[in-house]
Amino acid sequence: MTGSPIEGAQTAPAVARNRDPILTILRRVLPARGTVLEIASGTGEHAVHFAAALPHLTWQPTDVDADALRSIAAHRTSAQLPNLLPPLELDASSPVWLVTRADAVVAINMLHISPWRATEGLMEGAARVFAPGRALYLYGAFKENGRHTAPSNAAFDASLRAHNPEWGVRDLDQVADLAGWHGLALVERIAMPANNLSLVFRSRAA
Ligand SMILES: C[S@@+](CC[C@H](N)C(=O)[O-])C[C@H]1O[C@@H](n2cnc3c(N)ncnc32)[C@H](O)[C@@H]1O
Repeated sequence: MTGSPIEGAQTAPAVARNRDPILTILRRVLPARGTVLEIASGTGEHAVHFAAALPHLTWQPTDVDADALRSIAAHRTSAQLPNLLPPLELDASSPVWLVTRADAVVAINMLHISPWRATEGLMEGAARVFAPGRALYLYGAFKENGRHTAPSNAAFDASLRAHNPEWGVRDLDQVADLAGWHGLALVERIAMPANNLSLVFRSRAA
């Protein structure tokens, strides 16, 4: 991440590359109205881009990290979008989230840069805040059938684990199994540029 001309705002170069391919999927899977809870918003650039493109939705950005929260707030102030809420501190792994209802949950590039407990907490939390039929959208690099899908993902995984042994590219089947235990069914797997995946889960009827 790098600084930006906006005081406190950070920039992640990958966002400019992935935000429109992700938006294409979000336009299709997000509901016609309601609040989207974004977990691990990072710089806040996705939140601004998606809130601007989807004015019929209210966008709630969150992150666990204080610098990220400052960056999201700075981008939000600069963007002046009526449907983009102030960022909230939210640790996905916590059993209690400040947000108790959401019409969709979005988490981009979080599962591999956090301990497995954060993925568990994400599934628990999404199940808590959802009514039946709601969508959880995940984006990132995943292993499939226990294998990396590209040499670049294997190298990325090794670098993540060298940085923090609790991080690492997750296996799609394990994520889907975990989601299933929380009543979230994997309904779509979409190949994205640069060997990433979009995964769409839906909460089942109670
Ligand atoms: C690689 S960044 C991705 C940020 C943004 N979604 C993007 O794609 O540019 C990973 C983010 O996950 C956040 N994060 C890590 N562990 C978390 C947790 N337990 N709960 C919430 N956010 C977490 C970090 O603070 C960081 O902002």
